[in-house]
Amino acid sequence: MRKNIVAGNWKMNNDLSETEELLAQLKQHLEQEPQAEVIVAPSFTNLYHVFQSLAGTPVKVAAQNMHESENGAFTGEVSAKMLTSVGVKYVILGHSERRAIFKETDELLAKKVTSALKNDLQVIFCVGEELDQRKSDNHFNVVEEQLSKGLFNISKEDWKNVVIAYEPVWAIGTGETASPEQAQEMHAFIRKTVSEKFGSEIAEEVSILYGGSVKPANAKEIFAKEDVDGGLIGGASLKAEDFLAIVHSF
Ligand code: G3P
Repeated sequence: MRKNIVAGNWKMNNDLSETEELLAQLKQHLEQEPQAEVIVAPSFTNLYHVFQSLAGTPVKVAAQNMHESENGAFTGEVSAKMLTSVGVKYVILGHSERRAIFKETDELLAKKVTSALKNDLQVIFCVGEELDQRKSDNHFNVVEEQLSKGLFNISKEDWKNVVIAYEPVWAIGTGETASPEQAQEMHAFIRKTVSEKFGSEIAEEVSILYGGSVKPANAKEIFAKEDVDGGLIGGASLKAEDFLAIVHSF
């Protein structure tokens, strides 16, 4: 179901004590009825502690990754079932850092999407182009391929548990935020692409988040765009004041 969402991707940051400090600041200033679904994505080691600490608040917990298998000899990996067992409701899949650094392919991501949905996790599926792909005007083709190969193997029924995040790689961690017009153009393209494959009803109901140097100063203008339903926030999610300011930007 389409809703406003602000998700904080903490990436590989915050040990247990830093996590407790950030949670205390978030809980101190969090409204009981925020204008958006609020999600935080800590590292694996802090998931259960964050889940327990946020019990009774409206904030949901996401994992930043998962393995595609149900269980087995995959040293160091974490399954969907392990995530749901510690209260995790969402999983971020296809983040550009997983694709670039850990060489996750569209085919592998399609398997992870299937496993996540089979285990009742909601998927935040990330797509986005590199700077050279945008400069060569190939960004729409890149995003369309990421969607069709990584996400479009699902059923119409599955879409109620899918969120899409558009994160232009050149905007992640750079301070070079996409303009609201650039974000709207790609979000509208993504929604059209979903519509062409699954129908307009499903396309109109999927939340599409923007990620890439979202800050309190630019969130309002970006979130005001017709096809932007919120944000996937990196750096700014590590500061409670900034993250909450972004949550209140609708
Ligand atoms: O997943 C969100 C992240 O990639 C965006 O990072 O630091 O540009 O907000 P940042």
